[in-house]
Amino acid sequence: MNVQTIQVNVPAVEKDAYPIAIGEGIIPEVLSDVRSKRPKLRAFVVTDAAVAGAGHLHTLLGGEKVGTFVIEPAGEASKHIGTVTAIVETMEKAGLGRDTVVLALGGGTVGDIAGFAAAIFKRGVPVVQIPTTTVAQADSAIGGKTGVDSLISKNAYGVFWHPAAVYIDVRTLTTLDERQYRAGLAESVKHAAILDAEYFEWLETHAETILKRDMQVLGRLASMNCTIKASVVEEDPTEKNKRRILNYGHTIGHAVESASGYELLHGECVAIGMAAAGQIETELGLVGDNRLERIESLLKGLGLPTRIPADLPSARLIDLLRTDKKAMAGRPRFVLLERLGMALCRDGQWAHEVSEDTVRKVVKQMLDKQ
Ligand code: GLY
Repeated sequence: MNVQTIQVNVPAVEKDAYPIAIGEGIIPEVLSDVRSKRPKLRAFVVTDAAVAGAGHLHTLLGGEKVGTFVIEPAGEASKHIGTVTAIVETMEKAGLGRDTVVLALGGGTVGDIAGFAAAIFKRGVPVVQIPTTTVAQADSAIGGKTGVDSLISKNAYGVFWHPAAVYIDVRTLTTLDERQYRAGLAESVKHAAILDAEYFEWLETHAETILKRDMQVLGRLASMNCTIKASVVEEDPTEKNKRRILNYGHTIGHAVESASGYELLHGECVAIGMAAAGQIETELGLVGDNRLERIESLLKGLGLPTRIPADLPSARLIDLLRTDKKAMAGRPRFVLLERLGMALCRDGQWAHEVSEDTVRKVVKQMLDKQ
């Protein structure tokens, strides 16, 4: 089996670095690999009903009996503190202690919840991320962000808890529902737009093959995403400054996601948010090239939305922007582009305050009237 390994050099739970293994059909070997590297630890799996239903839990365990928590229902509705409490209580009742390694098998929601549960269980045990969706393989499984939503906003409670290892099996993407599959591709567009113009061109030329889920192309996609994300995370593991560029498209994106009651998928909202960031750049006179057209055209080519659904309450959107984690004194801040492949840095800062008037104008322009 052809496995590629990328190393992320950050102070993680076990060592000063953690490996990301990328390959096709690697899940059946993960449990034995985790155990051989940590013979003293007991495994506990966190997954969700959709991932278990798709057969990935069975593939991971291969018939072995391992303590498991299945999150139900799958999806954002379960991403709250109650689910984390239920997980750690199950672990405690199973007699697990600090000699535990949590295996997070699933998409972004599972990874965020399981990572958070691992971080607080007995003051912290290692978590191994096994992402099974485009959004998790490109983004959320790497970098150590864990947490859950509050009743008010997304990812309101959480900690940085870098994984002990990440295993990316691109074969899991073959069974992913089409809408979920496409949504996660927005994170690849994000990486290319902020840091790598050549990767952006590659995405433009390979959009069709990516949509056909060609395994080789997916392996390359995963490795490009992980290399780019690792480079940013290594430079700024706890998002003091530069890591904020990974939130490109996420300021308006998160607000749209919450305002839609999570009817829209995270990646779809990030796509809308990147188009919105481009409109803000236009309003601020920062665009002197065709990057907005290229970004929108690539997003559309990947089947992603670039406008805010007209029925979304715009007043609520503006309110949500005030509570965004990047906001300072209630004023939202945006990651913008200098050019395609390079995020904008001004006075050493990577997230930029934008006046509420400009944001309102852009939200109005972006509402899809059709
Ligand atoms: N998803 C953005 C980050 O990991 O920083």
